[in-house]
Amino acid sequence: MKKRILCLSLFVLFFSQINAQDQKMNAFINALMSKMTVDEKIGQLNLITPGSDIPTGSVVSTNVEKKIAEGNVGGLFGVIGPEKVKQAQDIAVNKSRLKIPLLFGSDVIHGHRTTFPIPLGISCSWDTALIRYSASVAANEATADGLNWAFSPMVDIARDPRWGRVAEGSGEDPFLGSLIAAAMVKGYQGNSLADKNTLLACVKHFALYGAAEGGRDYNSVDMSKIKMYNEYLPPYKAAVDAGVATIMSSFNDIDGVPASGNKWLLTDLLRTKWGFKGMIVSDYTSIGEMVNHRQGDINQVSAQAIKAGLDMDMVTEGYLGTLKKSLQEKKVSIADIDRACIMVLEAKYKLGLFEDPYRYIDAARAAKEVLSESNRAAARKIARESFVLLQHDYKTLPLKKSASIALIGPLANDKNNMLGTWAVSGDPQKSIPVLEGMKNVGGAGLNIQFAKGANITDDPSLAKQANVFGLRVDIDKRSPDEMLQEALSIAKNADVVVAVVGEASELSGEAASRSDITLPASEQKLLKALYATGKPVVVVIMSGRPLVLTGAIEGAAAVLQTWHAGTEAGNAIADVLFGEVNPSGKLTMSFPYSVGQIPVYYSQKRTGRPIDPNNKFSTKYFDAPNEALFPFGYGLSYTKFVYSDLKLSSSELVKGKSIEVEVTVSNTGKFDGAEVVQLYTLDKVRSITPPEKELKGFQKVYLKAGESKKIKFALTEEMLRFYNAALQFVSEPGEFSVMIGGSSKEVLSKDMVLK
Ligand code: NOJ
Repeated sequence: MKKRILCLSLFVLFFSQINAQDQKMNAFINALMSKMTVDEKIGQLNLITPGSDIPTGSVVSTNVEKKIAEGNVGGLFGVIGPEKVKQAQDIAVNKSRLKIPLLFGSDVIHGHRTTFPIPLGISCSWDTALIRYSASVAANEATADGLNWAFSPMVDIARDPRWGRVAEGSGEDPFLGSLIAAAMVKGYQGNSLADKNTLLACVKHFALYGAAEGGRDYNSVDMSKIKMYNEYLPPYKAAVDAGVATIMSSFNDIDGVPASGNKWLLTDLLRTKWGFKGMIVSDYTSIGEMVNHRQGDINQVSAQAIKAGLDMDMVTEGYLGTLKKSLQEKKVSIADIDRACIMVLEAKYKLGLFEDPYRYIDAARAAKEVLSESNRAAARKIARESFVLLQHDYKTLPLKKSASIALIGPLANDKNNMLGTWAVSGDPQKSIPVLEGMKNVGGAGLNIQFAKGANITDDPSLAKQANVFGLRVDIDKRSPDEMLQEALSIAKNADVVVAVVGEASELSGEAASRSDITLPASEQKLLKALYATGKPVVVVIMSGRPLVLTGAIEGAAAVLQTWHAGTEAGNAIADVLFGEVNPSGKLTMSFPYSVGQIPVYYSQKRTGRPIDPNNKFSTKYFDAPNEALFPFGYGLSYTKFVYSDLKLSSSELVKGKSIEVEVTVSNTGKFDGAEVVQLYTLDKVRSITPPEKELKGFQKVYLKAGESKKIKFALTEEMLRFYNAALQFVSEPGEFSVMIGGSSKEVLSKDMVLK
């Protein structure tokens, strides 16, 4: 009893303190707002970029300093580093009438100066603690550099690898995507936004941006509410539940209304239904782009956006240029402007900027903590966990340090492509390419020879597009044949060939959609010639998306998918190739067998005519399987894991109770290693046609060679809920299959009944 009273009093104390903090903030902001003119309020809604350092869009802002001094700017992005941030903040707090400090944002996407693997890669670690840690390291570095707002995490569910931005997200699954979204938010924001090494996270792109038609960037999205609620919205919701401070609207339309002016999305769903209390920012010029979406002129679309609930205008300056007039014409109300202004000021207040506008500028901390040894060690560890072993003959890897190695390929010794897309603050010159990493890990006596072997692509037009941010595709002066001959001559004299191929980093990311996602012809030719030498060939693939590998890897002894692995790429790849670390990554996005299958994802539904090779009138292609080449959840190890003895503690599950699902996982190979044990369910009869499998849980377990472990999951009725036709989140009694395995394809299964 005493304990309960104590708990209750602590609870009351905690909430009264929160309330007191809120009251203090409200009083401060009310007082400030009472001094602000309409122009100054509108000024706070203006987020601009001078674009001089790091352009992330085609339009850049002008007269930035003057606008800050006149109180016409609420925040800046693309200004990075203690000195530059200080210069801009000085203008805001010394020259503007009300001295309101600025927000400083940036695309801190997978690390800041220390670059981690691309997010799609990190997600393949299935290690939410590690992912959270990566975001906290990024926040620590970014805040020392003067920033207080990260435009991350990107949580768009993506099932179309033609879309270049799949690199920035966590793949195809809403359950895993939700856990990662929450982990990232917590990593960036820590326990308090007022801490000097935490910043505002910004979940993006709200919403459904990953479902752009045809995988073409910025394209329209059209989706049923059922699909939206069950498959695409959960990660955004998870970020909101984790307390994300800001949200970015997406470029696409939803139900025919662009997200940035979509009241149903931004107000009815996000604020009213989900209870989001933070600030909503547009994407880069997305308010102005509503004119192109044929929603009206700049006056109309700016009014539509603020009335829809969008607070801050990124780069368009539509709010700055039109809202006052719209107010006079009664097309918007002062309440709309006040709401948006309060959201911006609250974000600043929570960061502690009113107490100390310079709190995130710390040159001494930047010098000490940015790209520190320990941050680089974290990047190396995370990179190793993100690699996925796609193919293996169980004899070629790990490599022996005594072997003679021919390291071949356009990405084998190429600093320019290690960081991956959206590494705006990473320095490619500080990255470790594979050749250097192999020498570091292999030691002084390593017998290794290098040849480029081929260009990433021989196509000058593709090269030009990949080189917008600097050299990524370097078309060699030598002829392709000359390069190939050099590679073959070193391959023939080696014990083993390691071929490093794939995409240049800027062939994925924003505005980097591709309709052909096979390995470039130049690299395919190289691989075929290497296979023909008869030497064992280990193919290392760097890419920002799942590529179509059909036909390109059949001759390989092993294939390691490393994504674009960041600053420590080469060291991490060498750690895995030499067996210092056993690979344990599992795919979070299916690798298609062919482009024509897209979208291909594990949680597809059964059709009314399930596939039957003997029945013409069943769902299938003439020329491709229905399934992915490598499915979601798939990934090999140097050792082998065997699953057995799937048991349910009861064949009946009752609401409010749980049943235990147990499986034995045995490491039957010669190496210690980690395995991601995955739990899936199928609702065998449902009012809404169900996916054949849905991920419901997973555990990453470490097993020594020869060791077996019993792995247990608790299954509850809540885990079986879904949005029905009336968009109610319910479960339906009846029969379910419960499945456990090491990928979405290979599972053990048992049935049970939900009462
Ligand atoms: C446009 C991108 O869609 C978004 O992700 C990014 O944060 C902004 N540009 C700012 O660079």
